[in-house]
Amino acid sequence: MAQHPIIELFQCAGQAHVFAFFDRLSAVEQKQLLADAAEVDLAEVAQLYRSLVAKSEGAVGVNLAGLAPAPYEKRPEYGGDAAAWAQAKAAGELALRGGRVAAFTVAGGQGTRLGYDGPKGTFPVTPLKRKSLFQVFAEKIRAAGLRYGRPLHWFIMTSHANHAATETFFAEHACFGLDPARVHFFRQGRMPAVSLDGKILLETTGSLALSPDGHGGSLRALGRSGALDLMQREGIDTLSYFQVDNPLVRCIDPAFIGWHVLRGSEMTSKMVPKAYAEEKVGHFCSQGGKSVVVEYSDLPMAMQLETDANGLLRYIAGSIAIHVLDREFVRRMAAGGDGATLPFHRADKKIPTVDAAGVAVKPEKANGVKFEMFVFDALPFAKNPVVIETLRADDFSPVKNADGLDSPQTCRDDQLRQFARWLTANGANVATDSSGRPSFAVEVSPLFGYDEDSFADAWRKLSPKPAVVDGLYVA
Ligand code: UD1
Repeated sequence: MAQHPIIELFQCAGQAHVFAFFDRLSAVEQKQLLADAAEVDLAEVAQLYRSLVAKSEGAVGVNLAGLAPAPYEKRPEYGGDAAAWAQAKAAGELALRGGRVAAFTVAGGQGTRLGYDGPKGTFPVTPLKRKSLFQVFAEKIRAAGLRYGRPLHWFIMTSHANHAATETFFAEHACFGLDPARVHFFRQGRMPAVSLDGKILLETTGSLALSPDGHGGSLRALGRSGALDLMQREGIDTLSYFQVDNPLVRCIDPAFIGWHVLRGSEMTSKMVPKAYAEEKVGHFCSQGGKSVVVEYSDLPMAMQLETDANGLLRYIAGSIAIHVLDREFVRRMAAGGDGATLPFHRADKKIPTVDAAGVAVKPEKANGVKFEMFVFDALPFAKNPVVIETLRADDFSPVKNADGLDSPQTCRDDQLRQFARWLTANGANVATDSSGRPSFAVEVSPLFGYDEDSFADAWRKLSPKPAVVDGLYVA
């Protein structure tokens, strides 16, 4: 019988071992393995092995030549140009009223650090009502659509592992009141893991060790899924990008969108001043006239500790993974022509696999390499990139770890502080500790107010005003 063409391709690429157990598999398993194999771009894997694995032992060093801190637009309260911020806000509101903006959430990560079983977006995150991350975003997006008179489209990137569960969750909750025709799910791509000598790893005798290709894979996936074409048909040219782990994010922020529009930027990003030198965030930097983000793991600690004449950290601009992307820029990056393509990063991992006899192996130390793309690596390719400052308290409190820093507890506390700030700023009497945290639970529904402006407008109209007591839910 003739060899299957995919098997032949793998043989020619020196990856024949992938099919070593093929004859032992059932017809269904054979089909599955062939489908896995068809996802693999063998030339890309060979090239990644040569450039990222064969050449180096351990992590590949990042080029630090000519690196300098990136400039950014300061908030008005920290010396920025208040008139320019007001102009940006007006421009963003105009874009929203014109229906030019869609929301985009990357939700394909595995969420292993949190130790939560299920898509991370389904994690209950709010202090009182225990709303899920997805519900918080859905309500903010719905409220912004109502405020600007144009319901927004929302794109959600999932992974193979969590796609079905994510769709089911939305279906069970009637899309949290959003028009299902405007909520779009698509899977991100996968990459095979390779051994340290470049062999594609099998997870079982009948499947490859495939894993998500990183949030940078979102650019390709937006193209492949037809999302960019849909945006074009709908007259949408601006994507508001955020991560699934951060319920504080202003999913739709008019000033942010406005800076992007007014500057003719292809990629605009938010920064917060790093809280301390060792904080584990990426750093916005300039290099050779381009903007780049250098991960905390790649910027030598001596540089992270550098201070300026005022004693402030030099590399102060922390990346919180919130961006605005131009649709046609994404299309260009997705197509990958003219060298405009995201690089892959390697991550050495313990990857469950099978031995030469097909017996399952759980490695004790890293036995292979996974390849991932990062969305911020698009920055050097973007025309007129802009970085703007935001207030951490209004935009960033991720849930990453089960406890300690960036945990459900710290995130609930930050939400409580935000609700207390909004209430206090509008004349309510809220007893808080010195960190601004109320000692009891209150919650504001994003459908009532999803940022300080929308909250202030709604609170002003509310009559009579409720007493701020334990268990108050402002909805
Ligand atoms: C990330 C950033 C870091 C930033 C920090 C802010 C990287 C390498 N670092 O760190 O610069 O300061 O967030 O919170 O990204 N995701 C996918 N598919 C994937 C991988 C991830 O959709 O294949 C999504 C996750 O669902 C999540 C987000 O990307 O929404 C972040 O992923 P994660 O791996 O948790 O990044 P961090 O290491 O926390």
